[in-house]
Amino acid sequence: MGYRVAIVGATGNVGREMLNILEELEFPVDEIHAIASRKSKGVEVSFGDKTIKCQDIEQFDFSKVDLVLMSAGGEVSRAWSEKIGKAGPIVIDNSSAFRKDADVPLIVPEVNPDAVKDAKKKNIIANPNCSTIQLVTALKPLHDAARIKRVVVSTYQSVSGAGKEGMDELWNQTKAIYGLGDARPKKFPKQIAFNVIPYIGSFLEDGSTDEEQKMSDETHKMLDPDIKVTVTCVRVPVFVGHSEAVNIEFDRPIAPDEARAILREAPGVLVIDKQEHDGYITPVDAAGEHAVYVSRIRKDPTVENGLNLWVVSDNLRKGAALNAVQIAQLLDETGVITSSSGYRSITV
Ligand SMILES: NC(=O)c1ccc[n+]([C@@H]2O[C@H](COP(=O)([O-])OP(=O)(O)OC[C@H]3O[C@@H](n4cnc5c(N)ncnc54)[C@H](OP(=O)(O)O)[C@@H]3O)[C@@H](O)[C@H]2O)c1
Repeated sequence: MGYRVAIVGATGNVGREMLNILEELEFPVDEIHAIASRKSKGVEVSFGDKTIKCQDIEQFDFSKVDLVLMSAGGEVSRAWSEKIGKAGPIVIDNSSAFRKDADVPLIVPEVNPDAVKDAKKKNIIANPNCSTIQLVTALKPLHDAARIKRVVVSTYQSVSGAGKEGMDELWNQTKAIYGLGDARPKKFPKQIAFNVIPYIGSFLEDGSTDEEQKMSDETHKMLDPDIKVTVTCVRVPVFVGHSEAVNIEFDRPIAPDEARAILREAPGVLVIDKQEHDGYITPVDAAGEHAVYVSRIRKDPTVENGLNLWVVSDNLRKGAALNAVQIAQLLDETGVITSSSGYRSITV
């Protein structure tokens, strides 16, 4: 016997990847339901070699499933996740709606799997922000070896992080600029084609953005509240794959070779780090893959015990859908939910 699973947001970027990854990892699924808004009722999505029709969230009976992978934005999560959790299933929520809730565990399985013990408090588990997931996956093994005191991160985030509309805007603007069409921004605050935008989310009083604050808050919740984290989030004209330039200060010296050796052993991480053009990763290389890639590992001689890294991952996969399905696997492995069938875990 496997699980009865519903994907909310099944027509979206992340929802479609969730369907792919459930199948790729052979997660034991007995029943699968694709859920979206009323306008998508009857729209077909793929699950392996099958096609399933989307159902309207308003008409779906969530008490009949075991697991809900929720990926329809914060507003939908705030309206539905607690109600669904009370009806019985465990909700794995991709939005930021519950990430700061003390009764909702925020989990990257390679980083803080033990937090799953709190899954039943609200029957909700939060999937972290895409940029935080790849950051903490790379930081955790280093922090275990030499305590991290401070991290400075600059992100280079792809347009798919802003959903289907973000990808459409880059595509349409690029065509419009070449063809002298209408290139005015709609989804993003400024032109994204042939440009970069140092603003994601919304401004906070101190001049930072909520995306930057999320990365700091979530790193504190999952890894260590004592690490000082400062972030600049930038949107770049890349379709899929977020990159991060990461500067770390440790409490003891850690040589690049030691960091490379630690990261090579770390779950979920692949080190590609040679001083040649096949020796570092770009978002195009990481798109469609599972790993968090680390390249350009080098000493920062301007601070005590400093290292620089370049961290890249597929934001729709490890940054969202893959992490959510790994959380589902963790629920199964730890007996928080139960099934008698086996499945293949991923290795990267
Ligand atoms: N993209 C990323 O890198 C990433 C990473 C981590 C987390 N997330 C989070 O994942 C969520 C979805 O992101 P996405 O990139 O997949 O967005 P998206 O491509 O814009 O898709 C949004 C999905 O939500 C559904 N939806 C919207 N309003 C709904 C409603 N009222 N009731 C039911 N379904 C509704 C849409 O269905 P219709 O087609 O019917 O409108 C669609 O399936 C967001 O919370 C986002 O912050 C995204």
